[in-house]
Amino acid sequence: MIVTTAELYRVAYGKFAIGAYNINNAEQTMGLFRGCIDSQAPFIIQISKGARKYTEKRMLEAIIRSASEIFPDAIFAVHLDHGDEETCYDCIDSGFYSSVMIDASHDPFDENIAITRRVADRAHAKGISVEAELGMLGGVEEDIVVEEGNECLTDPDEAVEFIQRSGCDALAAAIGTSHGAYKFKGAQGLHFDVIEKIRDKVKAAGLPPVPIVMHGSSSVPKEEVARINAAGGTLDPSACGVNENEYLPAAKLGVTKVNIDTDGRLVWTRVHREYFRDKPGDFDFRPPGKIFQDEYAKFIAGRNKLLGSAGTLAEIRVTLKK
Ligand code: G3H
Ligand code: 13P
Ligand code: ZN
Repeated sequence: MIVTTAELYRVAYGKFAIGAYNINNAEQTMGLFRGCIDSQAPFIIQISKGARKYTEKRMLEAIIRSASEIFPDAIFAVHLDHGDEETCYDCIDSGFYSSVMIDASHDPFDENIAITRRVADRAHAKGISVEAELGMLGGVEEDIVVEEGNECLTDPDEAVEFIQRSGCDALAAAIGTSHGAYKFKGAQGLHFDVIEKIRDKVKAAGLPPVPIVMHGSSSVPKEEVARINAAGGTLDPSACGVNENEYLPAAKLGVTKVNIDTDGRLVWTRVHREYFRDKPGDFDFRPPGKIFQDEYAKFIAGRNKLLGSAGTLAEIRVTLKK
């Protein structure tokens, strides 16, 4: 069942985080739904501009609708990931999306606010919520590359002004993560102080709590990188992601949506590299595709446990009826 992102935020805020997983095709979607049913967790399906081009936006919609029929107990929202203004309007007008992200974080502060305000006004008129980004993560997203050293953490005072003036419903804040497989060096980790300050300053300004969204949340498991490289990959072994044990403490401080894409790509790469290493004469894509669906489902269920969303479906069903 598709629900609004706002409903999921309402249930999860301050208690656990909802996993927001990117999908691009049917195999990923099947693994995602199965993993969430196995772990009894609500979830957010994310569709990027790249995914909408790769599989065609109408095909992705059809895949999601079918998955929802195959797994009638699933409770999820559908979200546009890293949208520009035009794509946000397309998603708002489609009637299919629960929420959109307008990413104008690379524009100056006032311009970011003005763009987000326009999107929020149009989205709210249709009951759709809006995620907006303030601050700059490192790494690569869509066609934008932020060089190391140019990323900047979200300023908590600016965050309050941004939320008040832009009308956004959730804030994608830069709290030390970056997109992709190379996030941290040495003992670096999440900036819990920034999350805490944003929460406290929002409260001090008399605003209702605003869910914080953590982009770049993949944990980039060392074992996954090692298996990929043992099967012919050449990933930099220094690849490093978010410490899995930091998800839940961040959730308790208000990180309510945790975006994970890279880790799923690593599962896909490991499964296919190992499969064709071990069976170099094969050329049927279905056997590795089946293994991928199973492995991805396991991965998703494990993530939901770490986020604290596993086992919450029954409670959410009751809350949604109220
Ligand atoms: O933040 C970006 C997401 O990982 C989506 O990646 O734009 O390559 O689909 P994509
Ligand atoms: P990762 O690259 O860490 O998976 O982040 C994905 C993301 O933020 C999607 O918006
Ligand atoms: Zn992102």
